[in-house]
Amino acid sequence: MSIHINANPDDIAETVLMPGDPMRAKWAAETFLEDAVQVNSTRGMLGFTGTWKGQRVTIHGSGMGMPTLSIYVNELIRDFGAKTLLRIGSCGAMQEHVSLRDIVLPQTASSISTPSSSIFRDVNFAPVADFAMLRAADNAARVLGVTPHIGGIYSSDTFYDERPDLNEQLTRHGCLAVEMETAELYTLAARYSVRALTVLTVSDHLLTEESLPSEERETSFRDMIQIALTAAFADAS
Ligand code: HPA
Repeated sequence: MSIHINANPDDIAETVLMPGDPMRAKWAAETFLEDAVQVNSTRGMLGFTGTWKGQRVTIHGSGMGMPTLSIYVNELIRDFGAKTLLRIGSCGAMQEHVSLRDIVLPQTASSISTPSSSIFRDVNFAPVADFAMLRAADNAARVLGVTPHIGGIYSSDTFYDERPDLNEQLTRHGCLAVEMETAELYTLAARYSVRALTVLTVSDHLLTEESLPSEERETSFRDMIQIALTAAFADAS
């Protein structure tokens, strides 16, 4: 039991998938896991543990934004022994060649700040994905007939951004997409020597202003979860 996760020590698996939305965690657990049981509901943040192809997996919401994700990731690692954490989420495309429904695998995530920024003082720490899982996710996507975009993304502190000039510079420097969690996830993974990877689906486009119809979000979510689970256990098979 930790402050925000009302679970017993053995209730959480070493591998944790983290969608932002707790109801997505429920849907993903019911759709992909066998024998899934709910292990957390504190503050409405749902977590479930079950098995996928015989491997124990927890699917737990992260909430939106880095401060919230940071709370759950800290507790999952420090209090429950999580060793492999994968964010599954949506992003806004920042390049012409990145389209709605595409999969983005972030190698790194730029940010203005993260909950961890202050410990680095003047250093802009460069958070990175676990390379073995990144490579496995690339392979898993290609098996599904999907060519993912691999590169840098931007983890923003704001969804309703008032800085179009900032987005322009990030686009100019090849940033693939914007979301709100990965820079802190990768930083915490580095701090605690655990593995982390984010798998994203493009739900909206900053340049064209298109967005994915809600009925299509589920299909794209399926590919993303399949890719994340395959990457998490690639070295176990
Ligand atoms: N901005 C920030 N986070 C996001 C976006 C966005 O446009 N789309 C999905 N997550």
